[in-house]
Amino acid sequence: MRLIAPSILSADFSRLGEQIRMLNQSQADWIHVDVMDGRFVPNISFGFPVMETLRQYAQKPLDVHLMIVHPEDYVERFCDAGAWSVGFHLEATDDPMPILEKIKAKGVRTCLTVNPDIDYHRLFPYLDKVDMVLLMSVFAGFGGQKFIPETIDKIKEVKKEIVSRGLHTLIEIDGGVTSANAAQIFEAGADVLVAGSSVFRSANPEQAIIEIVES
Ligand code: DX5
Ligand code: ZN
Repeated sequence: MRLIAPSILSADFSRLGEQIRMLNQSQADWIHVDVMDGRFVPNISFGFPVMETLRQYAQKPLDVHLMIVHPEDYVERFCDAGAWSVGFHLEATDDPMPILEKIKAKGVRTCLTVNPDIDYHRLFPYLDKVDMVLLMSVFAGFGGQKFIPETIDKIKEVKKEIVSRGLHTLIEIDGGVTSANAAQIFEAGADVLVAGSSVFRSANPEQAIIEIVES
């Protein structure tokens, strides 16, 4: 699968409605929603008011990426707020299973995420319990960082494990994705690419989305 999920974090919030309309008519598959709490990551983004606007205007699935401590306290609210999928960090919890169960009970898709310094093998026991795993290709916290090249080998390893077990778990990659590296990331086995600054800082965001999808 080759999907693109532009990250609304890099949008111009003074014209959020317009930016959502642009995504609606673009080739974007999902809208990636980065929620940061200033504790799990040293940055604060946005929460429910922005979710509310997205839910009202977005015609694409909302792919929520929680970069928060105690995700167990909030996953259900994000499901209720209109998330199509809810992801949280494995390293933010001692036991992801009850949190995954809460999301599943809401009928929402699940995603487990790890930062680049967390051993991706820790995802393996959960590969058959989630819809998607997200490998961070930058350290969570900020848009506009450079893609960490070591991610490519990690994608290949995770893909190999998924295929060898006959699973259909999706692999999402988040951070530093551009039209220049998208092809290599897809070829390594990624299914979904998140792209923030390379889309929204482009003079023509719709074209930037096409260039990533068709790369
Ligand atoms: C980083 C976020 C990313 C970010 C991607 O913490 O999880 O989703 O918005 O932005 P770019 O594509 O600019 O690296
Ligand atoms: Zn993200």
